[in-house]
Amino acid sequence: MPLIFRVETVEEIGSTNDALKLRASDGVEEGLVLRAERQSAGRGRRGRSWTSEPGNLYVSLLLRPAKAPGEAATLGFVAAIATGNLLRALMDVPVTLKWPNDVLVDGAKISGILLESGGVAGGKVDWLVLGIGINLRHHPEDALYPTTDLVAAGGPALPPAQTLDLLLAEFQPLYERWLAGGFAVLREEWLRHARGLGSPILARLGTEEVPGIFAGIEGDGTLLLTTEGGGTRRIAAGDIFFAPV
Ligand code: BTN
Repeated sequence: MPLIFRVETVEEIGSTNDALKLRASDGVEEGLVLRAERQSAGRGRRGRSWTSEPGNLYVSLLLRPAKAPGEAATLGFVAAIATGNLLRALMDVPVTLKWPNDVLVDGAKISGILLESGGVAGGKVDWLVLGIGINLRHHPEDALYPTTDLVAAGGPALPPAQTLDLLLAEFQPLYERWLAGGFAVLREEWLRHARGLGSPILARLGTEEVPGIFAGIEGDGTLLLTTEGGGTRRIAAGDIFFAPV
């Protein structure tokens, strides 16, 4: 049976991910979607904060797929594909995907994804909270990397609520495919839109920096980096940076 999304909207919240994680632990059924007009404690990957002033999309989805933790972790790639497809339908500029889960417009980050999970039982995760932020009207200027928003990149002035409807419509069929076939059926689609494949990148893993050629990703989303000596380094978590063009 297809998943039915139930959207709740609040004016202000700390973090939609944090609020939905509490609801997940309380046993709320999957399909709950929480959107906030603004967040006072929006969170990004790797302990960073996510600037969350009104005008952009801040949303989290509660899902309960019967997946093992490693496989569940690939849902972030699926959400990035959906976000990329949505933006491509809205504007005629290059939209690419940056490992692991960012979406870029003309090489600048427009969207980030924070996937969190909890409560493994019988080898399967109990819940996933998929948090998605899309810059629609403004973007931070002080990020580690170039950033943009939909309007600044020449796209339409789309309200967050309408953007969410379009995003859920893109995400739903991809989620069904992922449920049935896992990331294996979507990996090629992610790679087709990946930025920097076959090119030099710098991977930053905490304090360590590893230069190499971005050779691809494995079925569990691990990044493959061909290092200077010709070896392959497998990177499960970190940030990547592209050489200036
Ligand atoms: C990143 O690229 O670092 C991930 C950013 C994720 C931001 C979204 S906004 C909605 C949801 N609630 C949060 O606190 N974070 C995610």
